[in-house]
Order: sequence, then structure tokens, then C-alpha cells
Amino acid sequence: MKDQIGKLIEARRSAIENSDLPESVKSMLVRHYELSVEGLKIIAEAGIFKELNDLRVKYVGKSGEITSLMKSLKDVPADKRPLTGKFINELKTLFENAISEREALLAASERRSREERESLDVTLSPPATTASSRPGALHPLTLVKNDIVKIFTGMGFTIVDGPEVEYTKYNFGLLNIPEDHPARDPADSFYITPDILLRSQTSCVQARTMETMAPPFRIVCPGKVYRPDEDATHSPMFQQIEGLVVDKHVTLSDLKAVLEEFARKFFSADTKVRFRPSFFPFTEPSVEVDLSCAMCGGKGCRLCKGTGWLELLGAGVVNPAVFDMCGIDSSVYSGFAFGIGIERAAMIKYGIPDMRLLFDNDVRILEQFR
Ligand code: DAH
Repeated sequence: MKDQIGKLIEARRSAIENSDLPESVKSMLVRHYELSVEGLKIIAEAGIFKELNDLRVKYVGKSGEITSLMKSLKDVPADKRPLTGKFINELKTLFENAISEREALLAASERRSREERESLDVTLSPPATTASSRPGALHPLTLVKNDIVKIFTGMGFTIVDGPEVEYTKYNFGLLNIPEDHPARDPADSFYITPDILLRSQTSCVQARTMETMAPPFRIVCPGKVYRPDEDATHSPMFQQIEGLVVDKHVTLSDLKAVLEEFARKFFSADTKVRFRPSFFPFTEPSVEVDLSCAMCGGKGCRLCKGTGWLELLGAGVVNPAVFDMCGIDSSVYSGFAFGIGIERAAMIKYGIPDMRLLFDNDVRILEQFR
């Protein structure tokens, strides 16, 4: 670099010396060209923008050395000014070029080091597992729902879906729930309009299925339902799995067989199932289904409140009135239906005392189900 500058300066210097400028002007110019060698060298080695900028000010700034040299033109005889000015300008150009060259180099190296700093090596192995980078896992409610659905699909049931924002017609009317039934009370459901609500049970999917599918069919519908309740065993949002079988000659003993099979697969082979008479407007007869307590095996404990039994679901034989309203011939077909609470099933299976633990998303609880 220094050699290059030296050659340039040398060429200028002989041009100056061979010119017809007065000796005093010549020696002033030569002196400046000689002094420039050092300045240009410093510029070529400037390490940071700040340093380079200071050098710019020092040489070509408003009161920089070359700018002042330009001002001294006025002392040169008028006819010699153009040539003198040309030599000064050439010197100025030398500085300007050196500065912008160095600037470009500094910018490029800064860009390179920023790229190195910010680049991401996708081939690196991830850091060792830490508390914040544990692999994800399915939520216990999702696991339980999947387990339940799998047992029923294994028995030939098809999965169907229905809307969570539902017409009262499907949530109540077609299920034979009369206008004055307490379940329709505005305080017991989340109404959106008098005819639309957040469904309070998945049973509405029964009515939707009967309207659209021709029997025979076996369906299950897992989904969220909403009721304004909240305590250790109730949540404003919870999940149910609705089941419906419609065919010729379906009876209560088919329901019993299917639910016993489900209970043994989902809980354990020695789980006992008990039917208690109950009432639901959409089934007749209706039953409440209890299981022998998963924690004490029926002896009586804290979970089953000493009774040895845990209530799991509601079920029954489809009320012919529902068939008639939904367009299925009740003189030909019969059926059974059931509704399982998914949170309830999870609480029983894992001995969880408070439903709210399932919704808190506390990893200390959730990771126990991985
Ligand atoms: N829908 C009822 C509830 O939320 C549960 C239920 C009972 C569903 C009996 C059924 C049934 O399909 O037949 O409490």
C-alpha cells in the first residue's frame, strides 16, 4: 500500500517539478505531497469508523489541511492558479479516494463479523435438557379422551362431531326435554340468544346424528360442554363423550355389556359395574352407572366416600319419543345411549381429588402423565 502511494506521489512530484510554476509554489506543493504519504498511510490503516472520520476532518474537512491549502491559492500569481489548483485538487482526490476505500473495507468487515455473531449453526446439537426445554407431552385429559375413544372405535363405533354453539332445539327440544324443565333455566346454561346456547351436554349430537344418518349406526362424540358451575368437581367447561347405538333389537343388556367392556378396558379387568335406576328425558329406562372404586377396589375409601362405588356416567335405552321427533321409526328401531364425563373418568382413573388441577396447567402435575 505504502509503495503504491509512494509511486503515485512520486509521479505527481515530477509533474510538479517539471511544470512552469514559480519555485515557491512548487516547493509548497512538493512539501504537501511528501507529507501526504504519512497521512494516506494512516487512513489506509484506520481501524474503526471514528478514527477514519477524524482523519477525514483533519484533511478534507472544512478547516482541514488540504482545504486550507486550497485557500492559499489566492497568494499564487493569477496565471499560475489553474495549474496549482489542479495539483491541489489531485491531492484532495487522493485523500477522498483513500477514505472511501477504507470506509468500504471497514463496512465489509463489520458486516462479516455481525453475520458470524448472528448466524445460527443448525448442525449444532441442542443444549442438554433443562427445565424449560423438556419435550412436550399430551395433556392427561387428551390421553384419557384418546383412550376412551379408542376403546369404543375398537367396538365398531364411529367418531362424529357437533358444534359447541348449539340450538336449544338440539340441546333440549329433540331430546324430549320439556320447555319447563329445570335444565333449561337461564341460570343453568350459557345462553347466547333465547334459541342458541353453549351446549350443556354432548347429547345434542345424538339428535343431529339421528336426523342425518340412517340406522343402523354406532357413534361416539367427544367434545366440550359448558355449564355455569365451579367447585372441586365441576368446571364451567368440561368434556363428555356421548355414545349412541341404533339398530333393530337393541336392549338394555347390550348397553350393560358395552359399558362393562369399556370399564374393564379403561380401568382394570376386575372393575365391577353397577346400574342404578335414574331419569333422563331422552332415555327410558334410564340408569346411572357406577364402577367399583379404582382406589380401594370396593372396600370404601376417601375417593369413593366410603361407599366402594364411583358414579361415572348416565345412560339408558333411547326414548321412542326422541326417535319419533328425529325421524327414526321407533316401531322398527331401538337403541341405547350414554354420556361419560371425561374429567370424571380421569379423576377416577388417576385418583385426582380436585378437577381444577386438570385445568391449572401446572407442569409438576402434567408431567406425571408423560
Ligand atoms: N347428557 C347427560 C348429562 O350431561 C348424560 C347422559 C345421560 C347422556 C343419559 C346420555 C344418556 O346419552 O342416555 O348429564
